[in-house]
Amino acid sequence: MRGVTQAHDVGTAYGRPAPDPDQRLTSVGPGTPMGEVMRRVWQPVAVTPEPGSPPKPVRLLGEDLILYCDRSGRPGLVEPRCAHRGTTLYYGKAEDDGIRCCYHGWKFATDDGRCIDAPMEPAGTLANIMRNVVQPWYPCLDYHGLTFAYMGPPEHKPPFPTWDALENDLDPENGNGDVIVADDTGYGLGGGTVLNCNWLQVFENVMDPYHVFVLHSTFSVQQFSDAMAVLPEVAWEYTDTGVLTYQDRVLASGQVYRRITECFLPNARIVANVGAGSPDEGYRPGGHVSYVVAIDDTHTTMLSLLRCHTDDDGEAVFPPRATWNGKAWDDLSDHERQTMPGDHEAQTGQGPITSHVTENLGHTDRGVQMVRHRLREMVSAWETGQPMTGLAAGLASVSSVAGNFLLEGAD
Ligand code: FES
Ligand SMILES: [Fe+2]
Repeated sequence: MRGVTQAHDVGTAYGRPAPDPDQRLTSVGPGTPMGEVMRRVWQPVAVTPEPGSPPKPVRLLGEDLILYCDRSGRPGLVEPRCAHRGTTLYYGKAEDDGIRCCYHGWKFATDDGRCIDAPMEPAGTLANIMRNVVQPWYPCLDYHGLTFAYMGPPEHKPPFPTWDALENDLDPENGNGDVIVADDTGYGLGGGTVLNCNWLQVFENVMDPYHVFVLHSTFSVQQFSDAMAVLPEVAWEYTDTGVLTYQDRVLASGQVYRRITECFLPNARIVANVGAGSPDEGYRPGGHVSYVVAIDDTHTTMLSLLRCHTDDDGEAVFPPRATWNGKAWDDLSDHERQTMPGDHEAQTGQGPITSHVTENLGHTDRGVQMVRHRLREMVSAWETGQPMTGLAAGLASVSSVAGNFLLEGAD
């Protein structure tokens, strides 16, 4: 007779602690600590719309907003509710110098949100309205095809920082012919355009290089280049703007492939091409500047400025995206995603907002801990009114050492 197998039941799931997300680091709405840290830096909103095109609804840091581009080519970002009687400016129209509401035709300036026309009003009240009525708006600008907005207190607005990784040697006459592509398709997310999870579990992944050897190299199929599939030696360092990691891989040739990945707090990163060493890509400095964009607490996207090669016709060559069984992520079935999981699966698999208190961290999580540590410092600085670090420090430009490099025997 077969006996009943009785598991030793110490440490069962019964009575385990409930998940307890760290709200100070994960919540992004107005007035939350991390939400206010995010609002101290210029955040990308979307690919800048065509001038005069229909207004576009966007959601960023838990706020629903309307993005438009006036006919002069300047982006504008406003609260949807019209300052007159509240219909949405989604049904409005972008004009030369502002956005006009569909209901009674009031127009608000791109420059400062002021009402600059109210066509049905008599002269007396019109002057009064133009003096006093402002549509709630955020300052914004276009940089290489992405609209960036500053959503924080005006007195703390930092200068807009340019990125050396995008500016160096870009002169088409004297440079190398690279062009910048503004991407809103989720390049770098590992599948899909929006992840149904908190921004931090997407962002901190960038300082977790060991997962490349498992998730992307050995667990299912090799998802990146041959060079990327070699087990690296990893080190991490704090920088003035965030955290970086060195990953050294000894290749079959005996050469050392050094990959440097860098994050810029609170939510930007440069991750070099995952096709390192392949004939099309080779080894070169990182030119993909990406922001992990918190739509709200449980939805995240990526907006990127991708430095791309050009083909013989001068057209941008978009960097390769990971495929599985020759299929793009959108074409995979649930079964295939379970068989060949990637970043999308691993990160949404942590839940809508992962719980740090029930984790068990190891040596390989050192970079993740460093990111969280620096973010906590930024939150504390906000709480105590101290100067901010990272991208909130007021840099005019951001420099980076990220990239794929061949250290020995390189041509
Ligand atoms: S509600 Fe917008 S103009 Fe009246
Ligand atoms: Fe990954």
